[in-house]
Amino acid sequence: MENYMNDYLTIALPKGKLFTISKNLLHRVGLSADHLSEKSRKLVIENKDLKVRFIIAKTSDVPTYVEYGAADIGIIGKDVLLESQKDVYEILDLGFGKCHLMMAVPQKEKRRRLLDYSYTRVATKYPHIAESFFARQGMQMEYIKLNGSIELGPIVGLSESIVDIVETGTTLAENDLEEIAHILDVSARLIVNRVSFKLKFHRINEIVNNLRPIIESGEIL
Ligand code: PRP
Repeated sequence: MENYMNDYLTIALPKGKLFTISKNLLHRVGLSADHLSEKSRKLVIENKDLKVRFIIAKTSDVPTYVEYGAADIGIIGKDVLLESQKDVYEILDLGFGKCHLMMAVPQKEKRRRLLDYSYTRVATKYPHIAESFFARQGMQMEYIKLNGSIELGPIVGLSESIVDIVETGTTLAENDLEEIAHILDVSARLIVNRVSFKLKFHRINEIVNNLRPIIESGEIL
């Protein structure tokens, strides 16, 4: 019997901010399934006719599913992808979910130079990216890993600074924080398992070729 699992293309979608736009974008290139919803309690949703299967995953787990081949492809923010340090093939910048990663400090206690923050504590969801950024500046820091509401760090005296995502800047402004260093531009990326890219090359390549003009036209933004 044919291994029917291998006939399928499995796609990992992240819950949260990127979910709906990812789902709509894939729908436009013919990848869809009934009842595909972020709120679904069913976490694997198949379309038997199209031989496609969607996995709805926690954002930070998407690169893991793709690295191990549990999903052939996935959509994920560049920030989460870099932080994950997973070995996947980043094939396409999807151009949505734009924001940037930066370092911010309390406005009132702003020091003169970036280097003046050496050896201080930085609260972040992104210790790997932060460490490589500070290493490039010749700075050693102490990293405090938080999983959300990072802006709280300096307010409650947990850290002198934060490294976090900024989209509109509202959260920084509301918490009297000021950006002092830009670290990384972020957008959603299409990632591919390295083996799947070889074994399912035609199918994946067709998806990429169909996505490209939509992204370039800017229609999805
Ligand atoms: C992200 C990020 C900032 C906020 C930035 O948090 O960590 O807190 O969005 O957005 P803004 O510049 O538009 O204000 P998210 O909402 O993902 O929640 P979290 O704090 O739980 O990570």
